[in-house]
Parts: sequence; structure tokens; C-alpha cells
Amino acid sequence: MEASSEFDQTGRMEVGECNRINIIEVKALTKVFNDKVRAVDNISFSVKKGEILGFLGPNGAGKTTTLNMLSTLLRPTSGSATVNGHDILQNPDAVRRSIGYVFQDPTLDIELTGRENLDFHGRLYKLKRDVRQQRNKEMLEIVQLTDRADDLVKTYSGGMKRRLEIARGLLHHPQVLFLDEPTLGLDPQTRRSIWEHIQRLNQDKQVTIILTTHYTEEADYLAERILIIDFGKIVALDTPDQLKAQLEGDIVSLTFKDPKEVPKIRPLLEKKDWVRRVNVVASGNSQGTLSRMMHMMRGMSDGVGMGGMMTGMNSGSMGGGRKMPKHVQQMMTQGMTNESGQHDLNQGSKGLNLLVDDGGHRIPEIVKLAEKTGAVLESVELHKPTLDDVFLSVTGRDIRDERGSFMEMVRRHRIMRHARGRQVRG
Ligand SMILES: Nc1ncnc2c1ncn2[C@@H]1O[C@H](COP(=O)(O)OP(=O)(O)OP(=O)(O)O)[C@@H](O)[C@H]1O
Ligand SMILES: [Mg+2]
Repeated sequence: MEASSEFDQTGRMEVGECNRINIIEVKALTKVFNDKVRAVDNISFSVKKGEILGFLGPNGAGKTTTLNMLSTLLRPTSGSATVNGHDILQNPDAVRRSIGYVFQDPTLDIELTGRENLDFHGRLYKLKRDVRQQRNKEMLEIVQLTDRADDLVKTYSGGMKRRLEIARGLLHHPQVLFLDEPTLGLDPQTRRSIWEHIQRLNQDKQVTIILTTHYTEEADYLAERILIIDFGKIVALDTPDQLKAQLEGDIVSLTFKDPKEVPKIRPLLEKKDWVRRVNVVASGNSQGTLSRMMHMMRGMSDGVGMGGMMTGMNSGSMGGGRKMPKHVQQMMTQGMTNESGQHDLNQGSKGLNLLVDDGGHRIPEIVKLAEKTGAVLESVELHKPTLDDVFLSVTGRDIRDERGSFMEMVRRHRIMRHARGRQVRG
């Protein structure tokens, strides 16, 4: 067997916290789909009782697959795990009684009221009528939906639906709650209100939580420790502060007027001994791959909107019988990055992120170097490393591109279309 990941240990714990028991233990867990996709690759980690563990990773990194194995929905190819002391293979029923799961895709019945959705779930867990009623009331209060409990779910906002799903996941008083992208596609205000609910649950009910997200600020705000997974392997596991501290130095983000300058200036910067690392990013401050892709689509299509792209995406057709250009098809089927983590759209990237020693003093030198090559700088920003920078450093990818990626947008569109479609029929 291959050596297990170097993150076998429980990770950093504050002094005095060493006595907290591990409520989840994962050992060399692996899932291979169809003998070829190694979705989760020999991962080992543990979660302390009462902890919130943030699970960050690019699209397809293996986050949902891991949660599906821990919740007994999916059988591992190899490896083992215990949840609340129960082995996921030997004692799946006890594991299921110990956990709540809020799935990545919505699973509410929008033709029922909020209370009916909860009641149905309580019946599945064989809760007695009086217990069900009492729990429904308690959970609706926790997520502040009591006054809308008897309205049909199709009349709820996105944030209310997500809160109801969290309430449903808690109905049987689980010890552990899995939240798969709890705030995907929600506006910042609603997202923050969900964060507060999650935090309260953790503090008041001591529920242990594993939360997957593409939002680094969400993981930073909520999680005691953050696990970053990439291509099925754990590439970082530590507290947010420690992860940031490991990137010694400053980040200088450069945005150039002309993307063609990026490959010219990059090797010159890499030669400097005070530059520790250079990463190509969409730009120091832009909206990332999505905006470049939209630009490309606009450039090549006359009047073919996103609707046409959505319906034709599996066949490589753009609607109206038109074929998508090869590079767009390739991007959609293979993702945004190639093997070495380089963006397929690097030609369009206007930004470079540098990890440098003593950034403040280096900026004049960087500007001079740019002038010498004839490159026009649009912006120069200096900041201390953030979790976005940590993500870029360990995965080679810009998480802003991941969360704004085409597939992410398609997924959100599908979720919204699903909700709207059912609403219209209702
Ligand atoms: N049932 C399945 N059959 C075949 N491949 C699968 C299946 N489920 C997941 N995969 C593949 O496993 C890999 C990991 O998928 P997973 O859904 O765990 O990623 P993720 O980290 O949750 O991504 P996202 O951020 O997009 O939700 C992907 O390559 C995916 O295509
Ligand atoms: Mg997922």
C-alpha cells in the first residue's frame, strides 16, 4: 500500500484541547470510480468532537465523494473510517443515526410546506408523533422559520430553503452534521445569516460539522481547521492562521493591460532571488475565468445566449445546429486547467501573483522591470497572504476561478431552473 498522506495526525490543536475526543477518524480512505477516476486517494484525517472542519477544494477534488463515503451512501474502494465510534462499513445504521447531511443539490419537496418537509423526514427516522412535533418546533425556531412554517416551500427564498434543509438535517439530533456547500449561489447577506446559524448550532448544540465550500472567507470565518483537497489528496490541513503563516512573505498582485505581457515578464520575475513564487491568475482583481470565457463566447457567437449553450452543452452544440469551437468544448469537458495546473485560458490571463520577501520595498523594482519590457501595469496591490493565496499556493489554481467557473455557473443555473420549473408547474 502507498504511504498515507502526511496529514495523518489530528493536526494542530490549542493547548488544553488535546483531551477532546476524535468523533471522526479516517484512515487511507480511497474511492476509484469505474476503475479509472481516483476521486479520493488514500486520505487520512480526524475531526475532534465539537470542531468545525472546513473542506476546501477545486471542482472535482473529491469533497462530496468523501462526505458520501463518511455518510455510508458510497462504499469506499479501500480504507476505513469511523463516525461517532461506529465503523462506516461494519455499522452503517449506527453511523446514519449519528449524522445529518445537507446535500450539495437541493432535495426539499417544494410542493410541501416547511413543516411537512420536516415531518416527512421525522417519519423516515421513525420519530414518534409527539417527538416529531416537538422537534419540528425546535428546529424551525433555530433556523427562524416558525412564521413561514406552513407556507409552501416553493414560496421560500433560496436562503430560507437552505435554512430549512439545515433544520431537516438536525431533526434527529445528530452528533455530526455534513454540510455540502451550504451557501452555494446565495447572496452575501443570506450567506452571512447562514454562517451565524451554523456557528450557533456548533456552539449551543456542540454539533461537530464538516463543511465543504468554495468560499475561502466562509472557511476562514467558520472553521477551526481547514483541509484542502486536490485531485483526491489532502494538500493542506491546519488552522486558518497557521496556513496563512506558512506563506512567509507578502503577496504582490499585478494586473497588466495586455495579457500578452504576462508570459514575457513572468520568467524575468522568477529569476529574482527575492521572488519565492509566481502564479498566473485571471488578474489581481478581476472576475476570473468566467469573464474571459463570456468575452470569448460573445466574440464568436451572434445572438446565441447562455440558454442555447446550456441546452447544447453535452453535445458540443450551441443550439440552432451550430457547433461550439473545439477549445470551448475542451474547456467544458476537461475543466479549466491542464495537468501542470496551468490555465487553458492563460493566454487571456492578465494577472500575476508574486510571493515576495519584503513586498513593500520591492514594488519600485517590479514597476521598473515592467517598464523595461514595455508592459503597461493596470494595478499593483500588496497584501498579507490570505486563504485564497494559500489555496493558490497548494493547488496552483485560483479559487476565484473555481467558484466562478463555467461548470459552477451551469450548476447554479440548473438549481435555479429546477426551482423555477417546479414553481411554474405548481
Ligand atoms: N458516481 C460517479 N461516477 C463516476 N465518477 C464520479 C462519480 N461521482 C463523482 N465522480 C468523479 O469523482 C471526482 C470527484 O467528484 P466530487 O463530486 O467528489 O468532487 P467535489 O470536490 O465535490 O467537486 P465540486 O466542488 O464540483 O462539488 C470527479 O472527477 C467526479 O467526476
Ligand atoms: Mg461537491
